[in-house]
Formats: sequence, C-alpha cells, structure tokens
Amino acid sequence: MKHVVYPGSFDPITLGHINIIERAAKIFPKVTISVIENPSKKTTFSIQERIEMIKEIFKNRPNIDTEYFQGLLMDYAEEKGVDTIIRGLRAFSDFDFEFQMALTNRELNPKIDTVFLMTDVKRAYVSSSIVKEVALLNGDVSSFVPKLVETALQKKFIKG
Ligand code: PNS
Repeated sequence: MKHVVYPGSFDPITLGHINIIERAAKIFPKVTISVIENPSKKTTFSIQERIEMIKEIFKNRPNIDTEYFQGLLMDYAEEKGVDTIIRGLRAFSDFDFEFQMALTNRELNPKIDTVFLMTDVKRAYVSSSIVKEVALLNGDVSSFVPKLVETALQKKFIKG
C-alpha cells in the first residue's frame, strides 16, 4: 500500500492545500498530512491549533491522517517508512523553492522522491500568508479557507 506524506507549515490550512490533499488521496491509498513544528519559526497558530483544524476537516476520511514532525523531512520520512513526498505547485513562482528543496532532499536521501501536484487554477493564488493579511485587515476570507479556519482567524486577530 502506497503511503505518502504531504508536509508543510499549514499556518493555517487553505482551500489550496485541501485541493492538493484531495488530489493526492485519489491517487494514493493513504495520505499523512505532516505539520512542521519548528520552534525557531514564529507561526500564527500553534502546532496543536494547526493540527486540530486539519483533523477536524478530514475527520471522516480514514485514509487521511495528520501528525506533526520536527527536524529534517527526509529523516522523518525514512523513520516512517515512506518513500514519496507530495508537494503542491501553484504559480510558476513556487518552482524555484520547490526545485531547490526537492533536489536537496534527494541528495540527503535518494530513496525518497517528491511528487508535485498542480493546484486547481481557482486556488493558484491562495497562500496562508495572504489569507492572514486579509483576515488581519478584517477582509472576507471565506473563498480561501474552510469555515472553521475563517472562524479561528477571526478569533485570533480579534484577540490579538
Ligand atoms: O508549507 P511550507 O512552509 O512551504 O513547508 C515547507 C516544509 C515544512 C516542507 C520544509 O520547510 C521542510 O521540509 N522543512 C523541514 C526541514 C528540512 O528537511 N529541510 C531541508 C529540506 S529543504
């Protein structure tokens, strides 16, 4: 059974990420959404908050699970026994970073491959950082994130 990992910050998860996860789940029997816990990077949502939101979204999907990881992605994948990483590509501007990351990861562990899935064109411009900026300025983010993320963003920014 081909088990794949979809790693990322998911701060917070957007409809763009969800589109990639749904595509991956059509191709592969099991998808693990792996949320990075990077103590040196400041995130808007804590690791628990990010994971809870994703788990809630996919609670009725037994072949999609969510967990956190720390350290090198290749070490984590190796320990998990997974040999395929999924990454999404939105606009051409993603390519440079993704290319660097995929080749670095291949150098670190040639047994593990990265598979890229192209985001739906409707979601091609959605990013967590833009969504946060819009929410912070009290804009409508309902077409970029699921309802529960929209509510979490409102709570986070109203609370400050
Ligand atoms: O959602 P993001 O922020 O684009 O995800 C980036 C992520 C978490 C996949 C990447 O930063 C990562 O794999 N970090 C773990 C550290 C690592 O393995 N670095 C070397 C590969 S470039």
